[in-house]
Amino acid sequence: MNDIEKELEQIQTEAEMAEFHKNYLSKTGKLTMMMAGLKDLPASERAEAGKRYNELKRAIESQFFKKQASLRAKAVNEKLKNDPLIDITIPAIKKTQGSLHPITHLTRRVAEICSSMGFLVVDGNEVVTEFENFDAVNIPADHPARDMQDTFWLTNGKLLKTQTSALQHEILKKHGPVVSAIFPGRCYRNEATDASHEFSFFQCEGMMVGENISIANLIYVMKTILSQIFGREIEVRLRPGFFPFVEPGFELDGSCPFCGGKGCSVCKHSGWIELGGCGMIHENVLKMADVNPEQYQGFAFGFGLTRLAMMQYAINDVRLLNSGNLEFLRGIKR
Ligand code: DAH
Repeated sequence: MNDIEKELEQIQTEAEMAEFHKNYLSKTGKLTMMMAGLKDLPASERAEAGKRYNELKRAIESQFFKKQASLRAKAVNEKLKNDPLIDITIPAIKKTQGSLHPITHLTRRVAEICSSMGFLVVDGNEVVTEFENFDAVNIPADHPARDMQDTFWLTNGKLLKTQTSALQHEILKKHGPVVSAIFPGRCYRNEATDASHEFSFFQCEGMMVGENISIANLIYVMKTILSQIFGREIEVRLRPGFFPFVEPGFELDGSCPFCGGKGCSVCKHSGWIELGGCGMIHENVLKMADVNPEQYQGFAFGFGLTRLAMMQYAINDVRLLNSGNLEFLRGIKR
């Protein structure tokens, strides 16, 4: 052991450590100065001396840092033992990491899938006009379809949107006539709540408009989105259905992602699950957004993100999703 190492070993306090650092390892310390002196040696000795110098410096630095860590640990332990305000027997506070809400998680997944197919992802307003929510999607004031979607009206005459379809008009006007977009979002309805009804829930709407867009395109897109969400091949089945903004309109079923269509308790042994509605966009909707239906056609679809999340995460009461109940949210495996 050389003299420097001996000196280091005898150190007892952090102040002495600082002094040692200043004397040997700092910019003006002896070891650093030695390095500067190497350049005065004859060239033949310089390489060998440089090597030895580096080894010495590294060895001393490593001992220095080891000693510093152990002195610090000792000081902390002393403090913990002697400080009357610190009780080391109290159990540690468990920190839990936050996570995305299941709906947010699913929405982002759908957005990712659709943008990979070239769809815009549009974030629309929750407050919309009566025109956007109803008239622009072919539901005039006297249409009975309005009765099924009562909502919360604001004093300024606007309303909380009852369906993501309310954004169709704005998107067509802004991005049309050739556009592919999805628009997930929160909807509201004036409903009595129970395990499967909430006054507020999430839907995801989608639209593809252009020249020569057909039902075959619709089926392909639906099949791709659903198969990717569930991570397995999903078959799509269209049944005739009425929605004022599409013609023809369909109810959209997917083969049950849980049993693959064989029948299980989730699909009530039918092999199919009802997922939403879809169809070819009604010419009135296109016309109202200044899109010429002679030249352009398109499909639209809408499905319940909340319903999908309930299915995927086996949630049996929709109200839990709005509850802010952390116990419940932590229990969900995303
Ligand atoms: N807006 C409909 C609802 O809330 C869902 C829907 C059906 C959307 C058919 C569509 C569609 O785009 O084509 O019940």
